[in-house]
Order: sequence, then C-alpha cells, then structure tokens
Amino acid sequence: MIRTPMTEMFGIQHPIMLAGMNWISTPKLVAAVCNAGGLGTLAIAQYSPEDTRKQVRQIRELTDKPFMVNQPLHRGWAKENIQAAIEEKVPFINYSLGKPWFVDQVHAYGGKVVGTIAIAKHAARAAELGCDALIVTGNEAAAHGADATSLVLIPFVTSMVKIPVIAAGGFYDGRGLAAALSLGAAGISMGTRFILTQESMVHDNFKQLCLKATEQDTLYSSAFDGMPGRALKTPVVEKIAQGDSFSLLKAIPNALEIKKILKQNWLQFLGTAWKMMAGEGGDFVLMARLANGTMRHQKAIYDGDTQEGFMFVGQVTGPIRDLPPVKSLIDRIMAEAAATLRKTGGMAAS
Ligand SMILES: Cc1cc2nc3c(=O)[nH]c(=O)nc-3n(C[C@H](O)[C@H](O)[C@H](O)COP(=O)(O)O)c2cc1C
Repeated sequence: MIRTPMTEMFGIQHPIMLAGMNWISTPKLVAAVCNAGGLGTLAIAQYSPEDTRKQVRQIRELTDKPFMVNQPLHRGWAKENIQAAIEEKVPFINYSLGKPWFVDQVHAYGGKVVGTIAIAKHAARAAELGCDALIVTGNEAAAHGADATSLVLIPFVTSMVKIPVIAAGGFYDGRGLAAALSLGAAGISMGTRFILTQESMVHDNFKQLCLKATEQDTLYSSAFDGMPGRALKTPVVEKIAQGDSFSLLKAIPNALEIKKILKQNWLQFLGTAWKMMAGEGGDFVLMARLANGTMRHQKAIYDGDTQEGFMFVGQVTGPIRDLPPVKSLIDRIMAEAAATLRKTGGMAAS
C-alpha cells in the first residue's frame, strides 16, 4: 500500500487516476477504475447537461466509490455541464483550458476542484483561484499538452505549489508511478494506458494499431482539432498534419452532427457556435478543424476506421504491449511501484 496526499484527499486506495478522455472515459471504465481502488474520471465534454446527469447516475449504479468529472472550459456548453455536475454533487470536478468560476459552489457541498495545467505559471494561478489539487500534463501526453515534458514540468510545479499534484503524460507502469512520487507528485493520471484495457470502449482495430506502434509513432500538431495535440501516426494523420485533407465544406455536416450529439436546438447551437467563435477570436478555420477532428475521432473509436479516422494517443503507446483488465493493471502497477521504491530507497541507504 502506498499512501500519498492524493489517496488521502480523494479517499482512494491507490494513487492512480483515469484521465478524462472525451468519448472514452465512460461510466463502465470509470467504475472499473474506482472499483479497483483508483480514481475514475468521467469526461463530460461530449454530453448535453441531461446526458451528463444520466452518465453520473449510471456511475453511481456501478460503484459506491468517489469519482470525478472532467470538462474543458473553452467549450461553448461548459457552463451548463458544470452546473449539472454541481447539482448532482459530483465529489470531484476537474477542469482544463479555462478559469474555474465554480470553486465556492463545489466547496459548499464538500466537493473538490482539480485544475489541469500544462504550463508552469498556470499552476500558481490555479492554486490562488482555490483549486484543491492539480493535474500537471507533460508533452508526452495524448491529445492536448504544451511544450515541456513531464520530467521538466512536474518537479518545477511541485516546488511551486503546496496543493497535491497528479502527474500526467507518459505514465503507464509502476516505475513511472515511483518516478512521479520522487518528483514530488502525489500520484499519476493515465490516459493511453487505460485506453489499452479490456474495459475501454475503443474499437479493437485501433487498440491493435496502438499495440504494434513504437514510441516514435505519434504526431503532435494543431491540425487535428485546432489545438496542439498528439495522435497515433497513420497515413491519414500524416496527411492531416501536412494540411492536405482539410475541408471547410465537410465542417458543415460535421458541425450539424455535433449539434445532434449535444441534443441542441438551433438557438442553443448558434449560441454555442457564437460563444466558441468569440473565444477563439473569430477563427473560423479552427472551428472547422474542431468539427472535422471530432467526427474523424468518432470514426476511429466507434467504427475502427483506420483509413479516415484518427485517435489521440500518447508516446507510451510504444512500450505498451498488452490489453489487461483494469484491476489486474492497477494491481500490477502498485506491486511494481512498491518494488521500485524499495529498490531505490535501498540505494540511498547503502
Ligand atoms: C481520446 C482522448 C480524449 C481526451 N479528452 C480530454 C478531455 O476531454 N479533457 C481533458 O482535460 N483531457 C483530455 N485528454 C487528455 C487526457 O486527459 C490526459 O491528459 C492524457 O491522456 C495523459 O497522457 P497519457 O495518454 O500519456 O497518459 C484526452 C486524451 C485522449 C487520448
């Protein structure tokens, strides 16, 4: 057993968290992580507020353990989703890409707010705004990070703030957990590693591609959905990164598909589009990339379409070679971390 400020704060057995990954961190995976002693995080960015409530209630049917929700705040419908999570009294609310206006509301029912940052100076600001803990994401990560790698960013941030830091980006085994603790973190958050488990809903075609990939087989580019992000390198991803397959025309039906997924009426949809456009400084191409990227991501994870679809994946896809059930993965990581800490502790004593 490894006790850290993360296990204490969240009331969990192991300092391991499932990262919020939209479409992928669903109730089944969240509950599997919670029931195995970790902290499961439901990604709610892709839901309407009604669906957010439904998914939260589904988790409560699958586990009696505490869990978290994740919402990037730059999305036009973030406010309504956060409000739904607050009304459901979700124990922990994790945000990324924005400033939390809801800290007092969450604290009022005894909940905690966890900020995600990828740039060191944002860590101090998040702590000042009342965050209880931080997730600090290095460049190795799947999807959206910034330029600094975990090895540089995590010790920098842990010596800057007093609240618990959860290290993210590049973690997949017990040696990584032991390293994160040595860097001053209180635990780890993993995305790619949990994508490659039995309980993950990702189509087997992409799971198999990831298992065969090396650590060199990811690409980091803004072309996928408008923000710098890391995806599995496939022929279509190389084309997208070179700007070859961008279509402004395709963005229109894709945006309408997203309207359907979010169950918005025209007024809500136009309001969301307007808010997002304003937030992005009127950058129409960026919005089109988001619409196209979202639909290509769906093609990958639901249909297993390796020709047209793409998937965000971290560099750890290289060393990962198996698809274990969540519980045996977490047990293995904990045993390996304990053995690593005993071994390295022994070095200092001799
Ligand atoms: C498919 C996918 C979707 C993601 N969606 C979100 C999201 O909605 N919100 C967020 O804060 N991070 C999101 N992320 C980033 C992860 O939360 C996490 O930071 C990353 O997976 C950690 O790196 P790792 O894959 O090396 O473990 C996403 C990652 C993936 C792979």
